[in-house]
Amino acid sequence: MIFDRNDKKDVIALLGAGSMGTAIVRRIAAGKKILLGDISEENLEKASHDLTYSGYDAETMIVNALEKDSIEAFAEKAASLGDVKFFIDTAGASPHQTNPEHILNLDMVGTGYAVDAFGKVMAKGGAGLIVSSQTGYMYPIPYEEEQTILATPTEELMDLPFIKEVAMQNSGFAYMIAKRINQLQAMKAAATTWKERRARINTISPGVIVTPLAYDEFAAAGDGYQQMIDASAAERTGSSDEIAEAGAFLLGEHAGFITGTDLLIDGGVIAAIRTGKYSLQAE
Ligand SMILES: NC(=O)c1ccc[n+]([C@@H]2O[C@H](COP(=O)([O-])OP(=O)(O)OC[C@H]3O[C@@H](n4cnc5c(N)ncnc54)[C@H](O)[C@@H]3O)[C@@H](O)[C@H]2O)c1
Repeated sequence: MIFDRNDKKDVIALLGAGSMGTAIVRRIAAGKKILLGDISEENLEKASHDLTYSGYDAETMIVNALEKDSIEAFAEKAASLGDVKFFIDTAGASPHQTNPEHILNLDMVGTGYAVDAFGKVMAKGGAGLIVSSQTGYMYPIPYEEEQTILATPTEELMDLPFIKEVAMQNSGFAYMIAKRINQLQAMKAAATTWKERRARINTISPGVIVTPLAYDEFAAAGDGYQQMIDASAAERTGSSDEIAEAGAFLLGEHAGFITGTDLLIDGGVIAAIRTGKYSLQAE
């Protein structure tokens, strides 16, 4: 049985084949070649099984998003499969899963390497999506520091005094700052490397989305999480499918004029914080 006779398909590359990543891919998968990259063989197998048995054309590659060489090999592999029209990065670790250094190396530096590497292979008209977080809105980085961060190459980010002195203080700070920097990384790429390839790139900043990662956060900070959810306008958590709906829009042709920006999808948590309806210190 031949399901699909097309031999020249546009490529979707997903780094981080977890809950949100695979939900986004499913929304845009029809007729495409999918390359899944993740450090977890188990997650790759599960994602590829689900996609393949839904009729999609998926293959996998072990990728360590902490290593520049591994990410570059992933981008090269994607380019060898066809025109890379979509890149999605959801590889990440949350504050209660690990230490500040790991979070910064993965969520900040690893994402930077991925944006850099795909900035060399994206096809004209392609689009990228980095999954940041609502926490990117929780620790406002001073403007001058942001300008310094924007001007700093990915490999030197960990050496910045702001990163060493502020972000390294604890995992919460590391995560909030890394996620704000994801938004800056997409902004910078949209104006430079990705622009040169005529490709767009944006971030989505989700609020609390029920995934295995969120379960780890609930287990460690349940009360604070509950208060935050209760104070939000939506008064509930979100789902990977809701993120995927917005992700598919940002990656699609109807978003052709949208690049270098962030879409906050948090059920109103940041609105509650900014208007004094919820205080982070209460956690
Ligand atoms: N779930 C939430 O509430 C929430 C909210 C805001 C932002 N986020 C962010 O969304 C992204 C996706 O999270 P999710 O909730 O879908 O979690 P998930 O755990 O389902 O997916 C994360 C994936 O990243 C992979 N990964 C971890 N380290 C890696 C490495 N070194 N190299 C390659 N892959 C690696 C994991 O194996 C996993 O498959 C993360 O960046 C997370 O910080 C999550």
